[in-house]
Amino acid sequence: MSDTTSLVAIKDLTPFDADDELRALAAEIARHDVAYHQNDAPEITDSEYDALRGRSDAIEAAFPYLVRDDSPSKRVGAVVSGGFGKVTHARPMLSLGNAFSEQDVADFLDSIRRFLRLDETEELAIAAEPKIDGLSITLRYENGKFVQAATRGDGTTGENVTKNVLTFDDTQVPKVIAGDVPAVLEVRGEIFMNKSDFAALNARQEERGAKVFANPRNAAAGSLRQLDTSVTAERSLQLFAYAWGEVDGDLAGTHTEALERFKQWGFVTNPLARVCSSVKDIMALYAEIGEARAGLDYDIDGIVYKVNRLDWQQRLGFVSRAPRWAIAHKFPAEKAQTTLREITVQVGRTGSLTPVANLDPITVGGVVVGRATLHNQDEIERLDAREGDTVIIQRAGDVIPQVVSVVMDKRPTDSTPFEFPKTCPECGSHAVREKGEVAWRCSGGLVCRAQVVETLKHFVSRDAFDIEGLGGKHIEAFHDEGLVKTPADIFRLKDHYDAIAKREGWGKKSADNLMAALIARSTIPLDKFIYALGIRHIGQSTAKLLARHYGSAQVWRDDMIEMSRIIGTEIRQNLVELDTIGDAVADTLAAFFREAHNVEALDDLIAQLTIEDVAVPDTSASPVAGKTVVFTGTLEQMSRSEAKASAESLGAKVAGSVSKKTDYVVAGPGAGSKAKKAEELGVTLLSEAEWLELIAGD
Ligand code: IVH
Repeated sequence: MSDTTSLVAIKDLTPFDADDELRALAAEIARHDVAYHQNDAPEITDSEYDALRGRSDAIEAAFPYLVRDDSPSKRVGAVVSGGFGKVTHARPMLSLGNAFSEQDVADFLDSIRRFLRLDETEELAIAAEPKIDGLSITLRYENGKFVQAATRGDGTTGENVTKNVLTFDDTQVPKVIAGDVPAVLEVRGEIFMNKSDFAALNARQEERGAKVFANPRNAAAGSLRQLDTSVTAERSLQLFAYAWGEVDGDLAGTHTEALERFKQWGFVTNPLARVCSSVKDIMALYAEIGEARAGLDYDIDGIVYKVNRLDWQQRLGFVSRAPRWAIAHKFPAEKAQTTLREITVQVGRTGSLTPVANLDPITVGGVVVGRATLHNQDEIERLDAREGDTVIIQRAGDVIPQVVSVVMDKRPTDSTPFEFPKTCPECGSHAVREKGEVAWRCSGGLVCRAQVVETLKHFVSRDAFDIEGLGGKHIEAFHDEGLVKTPADIFRLKDHYDAIAKREGWGKKSADNLMAALIARSTIPLDKFIYALGIRHIGQSTAKLLARHYGSAQVWRDDMIEMSRIIGTEIRQNLVELDTIGDAVADTLAAFFREAHNVEALDDLIAQLTIEDVAVPDTSASPVAGKTVVFTGTLEQMSRSEAKASAESLGAKVAGSVSKKTDYVVAGPGAGSKAKKAEELGVTLLSEAEWLELIAGD
């Protein structure tokens, strides 16, 4: 712990000293937070703790530009709920789109060629490497020194696992890197446990009567995310480096060169990585690695293909959470055979009735499976699945296990087809099946307890409001007692502290934690807020798109209400033109906002919260910020998608139709009615070259 008697006066600190001290304080305060909140074993008095925080706050006030992502001042509540500090990634940690077939791979290459407008003669080099089934990590180095490690988390914010990673061997995570190293360097990769180390660990655990892990990935995650870092230190964890986040200056010209530099700096990169230049090449490598897979000492679940040239990666950019320049080609799922004991029907948040196969538990790909989804009535009929059947199930990655087929030879002679219920098994309301839909839905809406409870559970879940300490069972109990009927009621639990502390299984400490979580979570980013409402079709990436488009909760709410009332409004037009948003999303949003009780519940909730606006990227220097532009005709220097992406990154809105509100119409050869309409309305018409000149800002 710092020696408070020998502190340097803040005015005498150099920025370098200040930075060092802030880092040390952040780590130290985090350690005491864990000792206090998680382990119930404080090592210092409250006033000593306050002194540490006070010193950290004072240094931050004097050097605001040194405020760290893991600063204690930014971490209110986080430690209470998770035990680890939060780290906001300097660059988001993205996920990857999937390919399952040769056709998907060919489509991927074609779409890149189209986007970049490459002709057939131009080579498109693809860096291919195994997709490691572990957990991704980002390692930050400043001036060659390891300063921070964070998990992926939700891609924007992860957990600070610096202390855990410090226990890694230098051959896996070098603590100091030398040579020509960028001042800021974030190396990203996958932490994993060897299959042999996993088997040995489980054997040891079993001997000690401790928990065994389902698979090497869980073992790696469980070993890394240990509040007691001495446990991490005992486990053999390894790292393959394959990507990077923030980097000062240029890292390399190609992905392959970047990996070379990683190797020189002492990181391990995957030895099976290769450069391919055609679908044929890629499929040969996929087959080769697929065959070698079982013999590797680590789990892989596919191959990742990345455009090798980094300038092309830059141009290709991202669609919501995944890069356009990379894709994961998955290996087929693992299968197993077992008995289907019973088919039950589950009611989801949106009322969907999902049949579930209850199975004799069986291990598939290292995980014990007792239930599998049967999706819907059509699927049951297609499979002709019946209770008592022997079935083949499969599990791929994180997806819910599925029933793939029935072993007809083993069907009991007395079996009968399954009859799908005509009423909701929870509330008895009629089940309805809309035209064009596969799912039966409970028509009960708010009278259906299952729907309400599932919506509330979704609301507090990890990717939504993330209110730890408020599990499914609590929600059910609070709901049934009438304490929590709507999302806003969850925040009103603050008024029931005494009653909660007295409840069975709660006590003062759990009630305190819940209060702290409610307070911490009452400030929330707009996208999480939208996602948490649990509106049909609005997943996390759609919620992010909506948040970016509307910017604030108020604007979103008002526009949605207008859209729900006025047919043919421009709001709807603009909405359906957003990337990946279409009529289905617009329809459900309109339907949601058309219900007065929904708007009432929403307003009630908004009143309880501070909803953070989306920080608009700094496009103040951009000549087209805030302008609405329409592209029409054939563009010659870039594809339509690239033009759209680049305009949006400069703060412009790209619309599909011309109106009075359009600022520019960029017309290439073959432009027709839109160019004409622009002329009629007096909207500025630009050629592609003029547009490029405009955005170049000269
Ligand atoms: S590249 C911008 N390369 O897969 C994309 N990811 O589904 C950066 N993963 O979260 C990722 N092996 O945890 C990349 N060789 C590899 C990988 C890999 C495993 C994981 C990674 C990521 C996830 C995406």
